[in-house]
Formats: sequence, structure tokens, C-alpha cells
Amino acid sequence: MNKKKATVYNVLFLAAAAGILIFLSMAPPETTARIPYDENHKIFFRMHKKEAEKKCSGCHGKKAGMPLPKNHPPKYRCLFCHKMSKPRP
Ligand code: HEC
Ligand code: HEC
Repeated sequence: MNKKKATVYNVLFLAAAAGILIFLSMAPPETTARIPYDENHKIFFRMHKKEAEKKCSGCHGKKAGMPLPKNHPPKYRCLFCHKMSKPRP
């Protein structure tokens, strides 16, 4: 490959990399509700995620006062989307 060609490829590569970074930095802020640190949820903060997820549906989507929104996305693996509201103690 001659020098000129190499330069063109380098510039293209840098432009593509910059484009990807700009695209990623434009992602909207995360808005998914975090799990509150309260009486209902405190125990989950110390649990393994997969263990904790089995218990969510005992309340959410079942008992009154804590329904899932009608347009809730597929709810397999709650903790994939809903993060703990503060770092695990
Ligand atoms: C003992 C019943 C109970 C269990 C079990 C439970 N929750 Fe909740 N959850 C509630 C109640 C009641 C509320 C609403 C009041 C509040 O904010 O604490 C709530 C609120 C939430 C919210 C916040 C909603 C908002 O409006 O901000 C999220 C997110 C959530 N729960 C996720 C989970 C996940 C994930 C699990 C499983 C790890 C779980 N919950 C287990 C009762 C429960
Ligand atoms: C694919 C990602 C995803 C998964 C998995 C998921 N959720 Fe959600 N959840 C959302 C989004 C998005 C919303 C609506 C935006 C928001 O959080 O306010 C929502 C909303 C909620 C709300 C109401 C929050 C509010 O402010 O009213 C509760 C409660 C909730 N989810 C509980 C659960 C539980 C319990 C599970 C597991 C059984 C679960 N979610 C799994 C993405 C997810």
C-alpha cells in the first residue's frame, strides 16, 4: 500500500471512530425507575440478583397498589433494567 492510500485509510478510520463515539454519547439518560431502598426492597440489596428476581412478582403485577404499567416491556429479568437505587452496602 502506498503512503497516500494509507493516510486516507487512517483518516477514514479516525472519522468512523469519532462518529461512533459521538453516536454513543448522544444516548438519552437512563430513565428506568430504580429500586427504592425501603422496607419492601431492602432485603434484595443483599441478595444475588437471580435470587431476588424470583420474588418481585410476588408483589408487582399481583397485589393492589403496585401494578406494572400496561406498556411495560418484557419482564424477564427485572434487575437487568431496574438498578438498585444506591450501591450495594
Ligand atoms: C413486598 C412487596 C414487594 C416486593 C417483593 C417487591 N416490591 Fe417493588 N415496590 C413495592 C411497592 C409497594 C412499591 C411502591 C412504593 C415504593 O416506592 O416503595 C414498589 C416500588 C418499586 C419500584 C419503583 C417504582 C417507582 O414508581 O419508582 C421498582 C422499580 C420496583 N418496586 C421494583 C421491584 C423489583 C425489581 C423487585 C424484585 C427484586 C421488587 N420491586 C419487589 C412492593 C414490592
Ligand atoms: C426490558 C427492561 C425491563 C425489565 C426486564 C423490567 N422492567 Fe420494569 N420497567 C421498565 C421500563 C422501561 C419501565 C417504565 C419506565 C419507568 O421505569 O418509569 C418500567 C416500569 C416498572 C415499574 C413502574 C415504575 C413507575 O415509576 O411507575 C415497576 C414497579 C416495574 N417496572 C417493575 C418491574 C419488575 C417487578 C420486573 C420483573 C418482573 C421488571 N420491572 C422488569 C423496564 C423493565
